[in-house]
Amino acid sequence: MTKTLMKDDLAQQHERLGRAVTAIVTEYASSLDSRKVTSTATPQDLLEIFAEPFPEQGIAAEEILARFTDEVLVHAMQVPSPRYFGQFNPTPLPIGVWADALTSVLNQNAGAWRNGPTSAMIEARVLRWLCELVGYGPESFGTLASGGSEANLISLKCARDRVYQQSVQNGLRSAPGDLIVYASEQVHFSIERSVDILGLGRSSLRKIPTGHDFHIQTDALQKQLDEDRRAGSVPCCIIGIAGATSTGVIDPLTELAQVAAENNCWYHIDAAYGGTLAFSDRHREKLNGMALADSITFDPHKWMFVPFACGAVLVRDGGRVLRDAFDITPEYLNEDRGGADVEFDFFRYGQMGTRRFNSLKLWMALKFMGRQGYAAAIEKQIELTDYFAGHIDELSDFERVNEIETAVCCFRFLPAHYTNAMGVEQDRLQQKLQQEIERNGEAWIHTTVLNGRRVLRININSFLTERRHIDDLLELLVRRGREIVAANVG
Ligand SMILES: Cc1ncc(COP(=O)(O)O)c(C=O)c1O
Repeated sequence: MTKTLMKDDLAQQHERLGRAVTAIVTEYASSLDSRKVTSTATPQDLLEIFAEPFPEQGIAAEEILARFTDEVLVHAMQVPSPRYFGQFNPTPLPIGVWADALTSVLNQNAGAWRNGPTSAMIEARVLRWLCELVGYGPESFGTLASGGSEANLISLKCARDRVYQQSVQNGLRSAPGDLIVYASEQVHFSIERSVDILGLGRSSLRKIPTGHDFHIQTDALQKQLDEDRRAGSVPCCIIGIAGATSTGVIDPLTELAQVAAENNCWYHIDAAYGGTLAFSDRHREKLNGMALADSITFDPHKWMFVPFACGAVLVRDGGRVLRDAFDITPEYLNEDRGGADVEFDFFRYGQMGTRRFNSLKLWMALKFMGRQGYAAAIEKQIELTDYFAGHIDELSDFERVNEIETAVCCFRFLPAHYTNAMGVEQDRLQQKLQQEIERNGEAWIHTTVLNGRRVLRININSFLTERRHIDDLLELLVRRGREIVAANVG
């Protein structure tokens, strides 16, 4: 079938596809709770399903949608499930999901103001709201990014350029010494990648030890700063973490601000996950000191239930800092309308050229939920995490590893037979339990490494998760744990 996409056909296609897709989405949403969270398909199985020749002639949209339902959807990780307890991946808000469709309909290029006038204004508005939320003043600004990794990269570029301005033109050839970045050993890997991309080299990242609570040790940080200065290096940036990837814990942000000021360092806070605490009167104080940061990474696609991709960088001293770091004016975008629109050319604020109108889903989500809606959602998720952690404490075969500061709990399965086993054997046991749960698809949890040992980790990031899902998870952990021990020991 050779197709010509005529303009008269456009509305009809949307009408037909819209109905068909709505039916798929509705059926999916209503079956989520009872669906297995994982598929048992192997990479080979999926390779075979999608091993198809290059499409020569188009086929009917209905046929394609059927493939989606039968083959894509069923083998997908059911991230929106209330039984998905994985990384910081939320159940997306319906308003965000449909905002994504509306974004595609308009297909604004949110790079230059002229290509997306309303998108630029909405992006500026949501950035202002986020800046207010974290306690920044009116001069602050920022930019949306693809996620926390890009937001961290953009922030570190600002840090590098502040400390050594010539690097923008000349690179680091004549830098006054090695520029060093400091963060706790719990730092997200994107920071290590960023220092590499920025030409500082991965060895310029100092991973500072943490205490028993997984918070950075500021005395160890100070010692490292002194040592580096004595060796002729230039301390460039100190990073605090608000919601660490593995444990969800929060560094002492005010103390770090002081160390950064005393050492003339850019202060960045990676609040990709934990920034959302700012919505809650009950939990906001955990972020005390956040407004002292020069820059903040804050990902709406983590704990604000906005569908991927939607990250943000906020900069205390405003857009000028970002433009100094990133602005380039190519001829084809140099129309000079008298100035004001340049401020809303978001391609000048980061590394993307063509940019998706991602502010729409964030704007709609914020308007839909409001401050109070977000506060209630995250307070409930923290309460559920406390509830889970309390039960883990009561189970003799399990041991909790971290304090609950957000909605993350790490723990280990250590039945009597394994308490004196070698560390690697204990590690294997955690993996075995994780894999058993994954294989059966009754829930999804994952593992990480803390203090050199593998631990199980859950994050509650679905507003669909209720106490009964947590009870089911606890029962599942106990049941599968017993089965593994019985098979290995018995
Ligand atoms: C603390 C923290 N920062 C940054 C990131 C990177 O975010 P993204 O995966 O959106 O790039 C993550 C991801 O989990 C994270 O946990």
